[in-house]
Amino acid sequence: MLEPTYGCALVTGASGGLGREFARLLSRAGWKLVLVGRNMERLEETRLSLEGALAREAVAIHADLSAPCAAARLRDECAGRGLAIELLVNNAGSGLFGESVRLPADKAESMLALNVIALSSMCSLFGAQMAERRAGRILNVGSLVGKFAMPYFASYAASKSYVLSYSLALRAELRRCGVSVCCVLPGYIRTAFDESAGIGSPAYRAFSERNGMSPESVARSGLRILERDRPYSAAGLRNKISSALSIFVPRSCLPALAKPALDRMTRE
Ligand SMILES: NC(=O)c1ccc[n+]([C@@H]2O[C@H](COP(=O)([O-])OP(=O)(O)OC[C@H]3O[C@@H](n4cnc5c(N)ncnc54)[C@H](OP(=O)(O)O)[C@@H]3O)[C@@H](O)[C@H]2O)c1
Repeated sequence: MLEPTYGCALVTGASGGLGREFARLLSRAGWKLVLVGRNMERLEETRLSLEGALAREAVAIHADLSAPCAAARLRDECAGRGLAIELLVNNAGSGLFGESVRLPADKAESMLALNVIALSSMCSLFGAQMAERRAGRILNVGSLVGKFAMPYFASYAASKSYVLSYSLALRAELRRCGVSVCCVLPGYIRTAFDESAGIGSPAYRAFSERNGMSPESVARSGLRILERDRPYSAAGLRNKISSALSIFVPRSCLPALAKPALDRMTRE
């Protein structure tokens, strides 16, 4: 398991779902945690659930990462509290499901601000500090849908394509500075994600629940990718197979193939 050398691990979106599991696993591995999210009550629940030797030193910081300059404020707050970030887990993310032309523009904008802008700024600001210390790791949470174009998840899937592409380029840039950048691509996970993405269809929700991995297995998979220093990988065997097979279907055909199935599932 990854061990700290000089600093803390910062996990965004640590108030629940996958982020909480990242925090719990890292705490058990001996990391001091910086937990970031908007819901302080739930961040506190995460803090109290930590079990490592440094669990009591975990810090919860409120941040709405979709707000302008949120990453810079977070960087300054960490510096003010003397917290050196050695491992950054960019986990916070949200989805938005529906016909692109009918979705409220403000919701799409704040999703993109979180999934794309905040993630890039976090990498850039904390990555610069890591590069200066010539040591550090960044794990970005992408998604399997980032490998495809997905109807009804058009901008979410595109935001996750960005996460993968950005992570691979940043990895090449930071490699010589002693900083490793990896990206995990989960498929369905049994979290509150579907609900907050506005997926109302019971059939879709049941499908996602049936095919979903537990957040703990996905977090383990993400940390394994970091440990082995893989550029990116899907989480779980089934997702690895889907990811590998996807190269045989022309990129332009996938949306047309997926749409009828999504239509059937979301009709009710
Ligand atoms: N669930 C899936 O099926 C699935 C599949 C592939 C990839 N993913 C990715 O996995 C990651 C974790 O998602 P999850 O499944 O754990 O979903 P989740 O249960 O909805 O958790 C999302 C987390 O992000 C935080 N967050 C949301 N908006 C935020 C904001 N504006 N500022 C700061 N934090 C914010 C939330 O905390 P607060 O509410 O406290 O802010 C929450 O802790 C996301 O990047 C998601 O895209 C999920």
